[in-house]
Amino acid sequence: MLEFAILLAKKAGDFLKDHAQDEIMVEHKGRIDLVTNMDHTSQAMIVGEIDRTFPDHSIIAEEGVGKEKSSAYTWFIDPLDGTTNFVHHLPFFCVSIAVRRLDKPFIGVCYNPISGDLFHAQVSKGAYRNGKRIFVSKTQLLIDSLVATGFPYTHEKLKKIMTSFSHVLGKARGIRRMGSAALDLCYVAAGSFDAFWEEGLKPWDMAAGVTILQEAGGLVTSLDGGSFDLYRGDILASNSLVHQEILKCM
Ligand code: IPD
Ligand code: CA
Ligand code: CA
Repeated sequence: MLEFAILLAKKAGDFLKDHAQDEIMVEHKGRIDLVTNMDHTSQAMIVGEIDRTFPDHSIIAEEGVGKEKSSAYTWFIDPLDGTTNFVHHLPFFCVSIAVRRLDKPFIGVCYNPISGDLFHAQVSKGAYRNGKRIFVSKTQLLIDSLVATGFPYTHEKLKKIMTSFSHVLGKARGIRRMGSAALDLCYVAAGSFDAFWEEGLKPWDMAAGVTILQEAGGLVTSLDGGSFDLYRGDILASNSLVHQEILKCM
């Protein structure tokens, strides 16, 4: 199943890379929430293959095809995480594929076709980038930390979001807003970022990255410090050492 997920992520990711400079058809799902014909094609490539190979598995994919089956396995697909970057020809996006078994982390794969970074993890078997084991950073203090975040597609909670943002900004080495939550989680797993937080996310944004991060030794909670809930939308992910300091900023 892991090898199959890696093959799918590579096939769809390389397709996106090959067409990144083509004329792209953009539609609006919301005022600033975009979807393109490439999101749809990437998803069709992935979902079609899963359906053929594992017809009894459930599939939850961003662009609208939910297939609920009675199997223990559910696939979570983000066929293009970083659509806004893709539309603006910014080379930072990925394909994110996760499998959960009985709604617990099982497999996570994220592929950034531009850098060639392929992240994968299987529960209890560690996390890897391009076949090499990865671990979270050992940074102890927020002032020595590079932290990633993201902003939701609604402007409803702007004030609250900017308040936490300014608290972290005042205490950290720096903040980045890369535009792909799945990759943000992978780069915390690989130790480039020391932490990542965001709210308003969907299960397909986080399912693969969370598995990869946990297998790299990272900690994931909700933004109030409680247990992480894949379906709630908020996440604080870190190397565990700077977690408390960031929670205070929230
Ligand atoms: C988005 C990206 C972005 C995050 C948004 C997500 P999409 O996913 O992960 O970094 O800030 O909240 O919705 O729409 O590009 O698949
Ligand atoms: Ca996404
Ligand atoms: Ca997407």
